[in-house]
Amino acid sequence: MNNRFSDACKTCLLTILLLGFAPAHAEQAPAHAVASAHPLATQAGVEVLQQGGNAFDAAIAVSAALGVVEPFSSGFGGGGFWLLHRASDGKQVMLDGRETAPSLAHERMYRDEQDNVIKDASMQGPLAAGIPGLPAALVHLAEHYGRLPLRRSLAPAIRYAEEGFKVTSRYHRLAVYMTATLNRYPDAAGIFLQDGKPPRIGYQIRQQDLARTIEAIAEHGRDGFYRGPVAQQLVQEARRHGGVWRAQDLESYQVVERAPIIFQYRDMRVVSAPLPSSGGIVIAQTLRMLEQFNLDEMSNVQRKHYIVEAMRRAFRDRALFLGDPDFVPAPVQRLLDPAYLEGLALTIDAQRATPSEILGEGPALTQTGTQTTHFSVLDREGNRVAGTLSINTLFGACFVAAGTGVLFNNEMDDFSIKRLTPNAYGLIGDEANAIAPGKRPLSSMTPTFLETPDRVGIVGTPGGSRIISMVMLAALDFAAGKLPDSWVSLRRFHHQYQPDQVQFELHGLSEFEQQRLTALGHELKEITRRYGNMQAILWDRTQDRVYSASDPRGEGLAVVVE
Ligand code: GLY
Repeated sequence: MNNRFSDACKTCLLTILLLGFAPAHAEQAPAHAVASAHPLATQAGVEVLQQGGNAFDAAIAVSAALGVVEPFSSGFGGGGFWLLHRASDGKQVMLDGRETAPSLAHERMYRDEQDNVIKDASMQGPLAAGIPGLPAALVHLAEHYGRLPLRRSLAPAIRYAEEGFKVTSRYHRLAVYMTATLNRYPDAAGIFLQDGKPPRIGYQIRQQDLARTIEAIAEHGRDGFYRGPVAQQLVQEARRHGGVWRAQDLESYQVVERAPIIFQYRDMRVVSAPLPSSGGIVIAQTLRMLEQFNLDEMSNVQRKHYIVEAMRRAFRDRALFLGDPDFVPAPVQRLLDPAYLEGLALTIDAQRATPSEILGEGPALTQTGTQTTHFSVLDREGNRVAGTLSINTLFGACFVAAGTGVLFNNEMDDFSIKRLTPNAYGLIGDEANAIAPGKRPLSSMTPTFLETPDRVGIVGTPGGSRIISMVMLAALDFAAGKLPDSWVSLRRFHHQYQPDQVQFELHGLSEFEQQRLTALGHELKEITRRYGNMQAILWDRTQDRVYSASDPRGEGLAVVVE
């Protein structure tokens, strides 16, 4: 086994982790690029870039547009993480616009008097919603990083909300799945269904109230959402339908700028999401374990075995130790300590799957919702944004506050609702991620930059806890010199410690791989569909070329504007 770490390296890694800033260098890209999960959102980004906006203005336009045209994935009633690279000074930072638990939230709020979890309480209706962070994050982006007035960057989203957008086959399919729940909340059903039924493909969804809300943000900045008439209506409607929001929860919401997790894997520098996302830490642990082995010389099956074993170990630490860093002193330095990871890697048996239970007793992962979205942007100045946004599960809480058009998230379900009790996804979590007023639920959203001296990748995807393995597999593919088309098309597999099984998408493992992995002692679980919706950009400096790709599993659009 090869120990690549020295004490000097450890210090260097820690310094970078704490500061989160890359060395300054200004560089020009030969083109703009935008990749997102919806063509209208990509067009919104391009429109703003063509008006002289930078990548940060484009990120506002894309984020806002996605919230209008992909209402099942993200929106003004939700939150997200925006990983930024500013070319002028090399600053790299993550904007944390994650939702916070309302001030009246408490650890037992989704349990009855017998301490049983109340079905659907953390999933549906306003009680399931955290205080939204997306509007504040867009305002912050405009005030601190953008070049255009916020109104200009929000204009495409306002237009899409007013004029409407056409229902696609994806929208239709997801609406079929959520029709019964949406119909419980007439204000949501009135907007997102057609006469109480899944809208037909081509039907135009118009959101006049949402257009007015976005206009209020364009006009008054964060006060347009967090104070005044919109805020009053949000609180009043939430309370009327069983929620616990208070005006002061909205007023006091704060975006946080956080230093990314930055680490080296061979010659690739990975810049990824810090807590309250678990993504960067889990990917760092996994790749630093894998760096101890020569994956290139392994058979395909052996390589997958090692990847699975490294993920198993990293996800165990996630479930045990990670939560909102403003509330829980997560042992990040210890989890990323080279000696610790070398020790963990040593426990990997080349010939045999390690049963998760013998790694020590620990809780399983609190699964995070899968209906998130991602976009990537690069501008000609070399500014870049990787944004992953969410309202958690499909159509979030399925609740719209009347008169605002704001669809509430159900991100509270990303907390550990009750220790060792499965949540809606059949999984469980630990104390570090317990509910507390003002706390952010642990997330898996993992916007990421991949960097070598010659190449820069911008990548991310929705997919709940599987986001992390998808981004990690893309990082390995980037490291192998592949292009974004390849990263977004990879066959996907995943392990998250508990349940102790290798999950793989439809056709994600060949018959032969399945047989061999089973022979190594792995339990396999085929997910009967393909998962993820990765949006990726590569800037290859040696060729002076920009590439972009949108996941073939989705309906997105990736463009490069020369
Ligand atoms: N709600 C999705 C996530 O934060 O991971």
